[in-house]
Amino acid sequence: METVTLDTRPVKMRLNPKKPRTKPRPASNRRSGRRSGAGPKTQTLSRELFASVSNNHFVMSSLFSPLTLRGITLRNRIAISPMCMYTAQDGFANDWHLVHLGSRAVGGAGLIIQEATAVAPEGRITPDDLGIWKDEHVPFLRRITDFIRAQGAVAGIQLAHAGRKASHSSPWKGGAVVPAEAGGWTTVAPSAEPFTPEEPTPHALSLAEIRQVVADFQAATVRALAAGYEVIELHAAHGYLLHEFFSPLSNHRTDAYGGSFDNRIRLLLEVVEATRAVLPEHLPLLVRVSATDWTEGGWTSEDTVALAAILQQKGVDLLDCSTGGNVAVAPIPVGPGYQVEFAERVRRETGLPTGAVGLITEARQAEQIVASGQADLVLLARESLRDPYFPLHAAHELGAAITWPDQYLRARPR
Ligand SMILES: Cc1cc2nc3c(=O)[nH]c(=O)nc-3n(C[C@H](O)[C@H](O)[C@H](O)COP(=O)(O)O)c2cc1C
Repeated sequence: METVTLDTRPVKMRLNPKKPRTKPRPASNRRSGRRSGAGPKTQTLSRELFASVSNNHFVMSSLFSPLTLRGITLRNRIAISPMCMYTAQDGFANDWHLVHLGSRAVGGAGLIIQEATAVAPEGRITPDDLGIWKDEHVPFLRRITDFIRAQGAVAGIQLAHAGRKASHSSPWKGGAVVPAEAGGWTTVAPSAEPFTPEEPTPHALSLAEIRQVVADFQAATVRALAAGYEVIELHAAHGYLLHEFFSPLSNHRTDAYGGSFDNRIRLLLEVVEATRAVLPEHLPLLVRVSATDWTEGGWTSEDTVALAAILQQKGVDLLDCSTGGNVAVAPIPVGPGYQVEFAERVRRETGLPTGAVGLITEARQAEQIVASGQADLVLLARESLRDPYFPLHAAHELGAAITWPDQYLRARPR
């Protein structure tokens, strides 16, 4: 049976944020101090606690404790959320991707998840998306993973198919539908229904084409392994193909892939099985879902909990809980940590480890999410664009131990 090992042991953290330690501990102590015995599984650190304890006292940092998923240990609970850079040509990565992802590995994150990387050319959101549909894509991706690993971070990749939301131009090129004559293509979906009435109608996938999608995800996984990624995340969120299948708002099929809950999640489960079948036992599989469509009659958080329990049985190791994206206009209560409740609920009701994402921008906020047991991993997107070194800065603010790159040691706060 496949098992998930969750290392929730906390590490020591210096209180009295931003007050420098008088003498840095030797590296050997730091390392042993990172695993400071069996603490409670979860722990709440309030602002008051931070404020009330003197400089000489220590508490534990959950954010900077390692997380083990199967045979892979992340050095801390901060992941860089997948973010499209719209900077590829014919799916090929280039220096931008190396420097962008590499900088965030230098910045101290435990896991770097590469942007939505298309498993098929027609699965790209834009012609500028990264891809992994041919072997030629692998060598440059290998450079990226080698660099990330050399910094002590783990390289993950988000495998994606954009479904009916494909064939658009990049945001700074206007984001409009790209017609065939300008290099676009006919999009595919569970049903022949466009995302908005203004967009072209997608082609409803036949059963044979659905089998090809599953095969594409599997082949992409094999290439991702050849490229050195140690974490695979399946993109089943934000209104892209896998989400389009499980949401009742976009799936009106009458065959084995539509109608009931079991039918609508069938494609995702087949992709999970195909991916897991080629993933070595020691490598974790993550799935990003939109935990709710935020729309009456759509996918709900109850559905997500039911799906999570099934995914757990299928060998998924962590559910990355985002929301929305399948409805052009939905009432989303956007605010700090507004999606954390979904990660918390899945974790509480199924025991499946979860990732929280969405407007997590502060060190103490991230610490609190992990310490209070709302999620096992915190994913940062925009904040990590503002500050690639967020983990280094957060460790300093929280007083937690973190290893700075040797090349940057002279800048380490003391
Ligand atoms: C530039 C940019 C590109 C993004 N691309 C992806 C992507 O490739 N895959 C994905 O699942 N989410 C993508 N997202 C969403 C983020 O991963 C994240 O879920 C969202 O931005 C909320 O987190 P934040 O508040 O920390 O930015 C993207 C977000 C941004 C800002």
